[in-house]
Amino acid sequence: MDTRYLVTSALPYANGPLHLGHLAGAYLPADTYVRFLRMCGEDVIYVCGTDEHGVPITITAEKQGRTPREVVDEYHATIRREFEAFGISFDNFSRTSLPSHAEFARGVFLDLLGKGLIAERTMKQLHCPRCSRFLPDRYVNGTCPKCGTPGARGDLCESCGSWLEALELKAPSCSICGSEPSPRDTTHWFLRLDAFQGWLREWLPSREGWRDNVLNYCRGWLDEGLQERAITRDIDWGVPVPLDAASGKVLYVWFEALLGYVSSTRELFEKRGDPGAWERWWKDPGTRLVHFIGKDNIVFHAIIEPAILRGLGGFVLPWNIPANEFLNISGQKQSTSRGTAVWMGEYLERFQPDPMRYTLSINAPEGRDADFTWAEFRVRNNELADVLGNFVNRTVSFAFREFGGLVPACGGPGEREKALADMALQAGASIRGLLSTFRFKAACAEAMALAREGNRYFDSSEPWRTARASREECARTIRHSLEFIDWLRLVFSPFLPFSCEKIALMLGGGRENRWDAIGRPSLVEGTRLGQPVILFEKLEEGFDGSAAPGKPSASVAPGVKGENDTKAPAAEPEAPARVSFDEFRKLDLRVGRIISAEPVPKADKLLAMKVDLGEPEPRSIVAGLRQWYEPDALAGRLVVVVSNLEPARIRGVQSDGMILASDGGSGVFVLGPDPSARPGDKVR
Ligand code: MF3
Ligand code: ZN
Repeated sequence: MDTRYLVTSALPYANGPLHLGHLAGAYLPADTYVRFLRMCGEDVIYVCGTDEHGVPITITAEKQGRTPREVVDEYHATIRREFEAFGISFDNFSRTSLPSHAEFARGVFLDLLGKGLIAERTMKQLHCPRCSRFLPDRYVNGTCPKCGTPGARGDLCESCGSWLEALELKAPSCSICGSEPSPRDTTHWFLRLDAFQGWLREWLPSREGWRDNVLNYCRGWLDEGLQERAITRDIDWGVPVPLDAASGKVLYVWFEALLGYVSSTRELFEKRGDPGAWERWWKDPGTRLVHFIGKDNIVFHAIIEPAILRGLGGFVLPWNIPANEFLNISGQKQSTSRGTAVWMGEYLERFQPDPMRYTLSINAPEGRDADFTWAEFRVRNNELADVLGNFVNRTVSFAFREFGGLVPACGGPGEREKALADMALQAGASIRGLLSTFRFKAACAEAMALAREGNRYFDSSEPWRTARASREECARTIRHSLEFIDWLRLVFSPFLPFSCEKIALMLGGGRENRWDAIGRPSLVEGTRLGQPVILFEKLEEGFDGSAAPGKPSASVAPGVKGENDTKAPAAEPEAPARVSFDEFRKLDLRVGRIISAEPVPKADKLLAMKVDLGEPEPRSIVAGLRQWYEPDALAGRLVVVVSNLEPARIRGVQSDGMILASDGGSGVFVLGPDPSARPGDKVR
């Protein structure tokens, strides 16, 4: 049987922009998963779209004094654009306000009606005398009958998470005008969920590999006993119920939105000129249907959708539903009103997508709620810079410096190189296992652990030393470091698609994206490498997400003058005084190569370094770089050194020279000469 993957992310309501909680919950993990599956050569499609009907949309429109159409058009465009900017790689991103979706949803309604799975009922519903209309779902607020919290909505209590019927609310009030509504008779159509109770009791517990949160939640529902649920509403924005007797009524947004996954698939294959193919994806038992959602959507995907699909007959059922918990911001629920949410668009104005993809993957709300802070973001961003970025950069720069920017030839691998390839092979297999079972957090951490091995290999091979002592050994180190970079590129591709494309270019381009290439050397000797680029910009200590990018903050001067290693620099001098050429010439500036760097005990800003200045003995130099660089990240780098500075003892360590660095708002960066310069070269 052919296996194919049909992956979906919850259709976001087109009633506002999305925040990081949305991204972390249903989109980023799904995108990571499909990128991984594509690399494994699986047959996969990834569909989504905006959810454009229902009370969430009409309430937003009323509040903004616009039509629902205006609202959904605007936010569909925003949401689509921001997903794209984050690299969320849908095969199709549709919208539920398309006529083709309405047509499909009406067909499903009629099919289930014909099978007796939808029934007409007269019921009481809250009606507002002042607005003279029925108050479905969020049109009414009140006190939750389950937990007693005020401010529950007609469909849901956000405080205890119970799904409610508006009539159950205590002290209800109209959310538009505040009046007290009263119950009135109206006719609606109900999905006979009760008819599926017995089957779901069997089916759900037998799902393999489903997360506990999903199964436990469903058990709760089944224990309470499934009830018929109204799937029509008295509002005028939505898919009209296809019955004369139901004029003025529309399908409940959840009933039709779930069908949006099918309509989006249909639209995809129409665009591909193969309109019948959607049926294979939805009806052939080889399809693995995977729904990525947040935990508030579990009941719809694990109970209602399976009931609908089974009621229709011939459709596949969800193969897995990796529901995530919530992402809080600095300990608080993301809330628009309190201004605690971090919007995707707001982030994108300031930063590249990959550092956030990394932060939200390695700190995913899997299994329990996660907390996002800007301090964590800084740490994760800098981890990318220090470990992955640094390894790639130092290796490629080295290849330019020593091997003319070409993949060097080398003899067979030594013990170290064999061990390195083994490590990559094993990590590739292990990460594959984790991603296949939706453990994104662990997979991401393992990718980073592998990257650390790259730096370790580079350091212990000391190519800056062998560059002189043994060209062959040096070439071997660089060649295998480059191969290793290619494997890191592969394991990180699902997480960091933008950076991995840059890495591919540095490796000369035209790289394949196949998971099974991990751990197998494939670079061709003599291939021209791309110019090394900085993959990740570091963020300075104290960064809290609030400052505008590039805004300088107090920081320690990196070069060390005497004991002044902890004070912030004095305010900028107005206009610096001029110096004569002779004065300038008093400085002896030299190219140096950092051989090693180590923290100075009990001085959290300082690194003690050994620097090769082309002299018989390396210099010992102390600099205030510790908060900017991992010691490992500096070894091997070319720098500019003031070699004739008066020696000083700094925190008990001898310092004989000063390393030059830039110090601006974005951080402190050591100055690097062109890779062809050699230690000891004069700078003038
Ligand atoms: N729009 C809903 C939400 O944001 C999710 C709909 S998912 C679907 O919570 F399955 F119904 F499409
Ligand atoms: Zn009212």
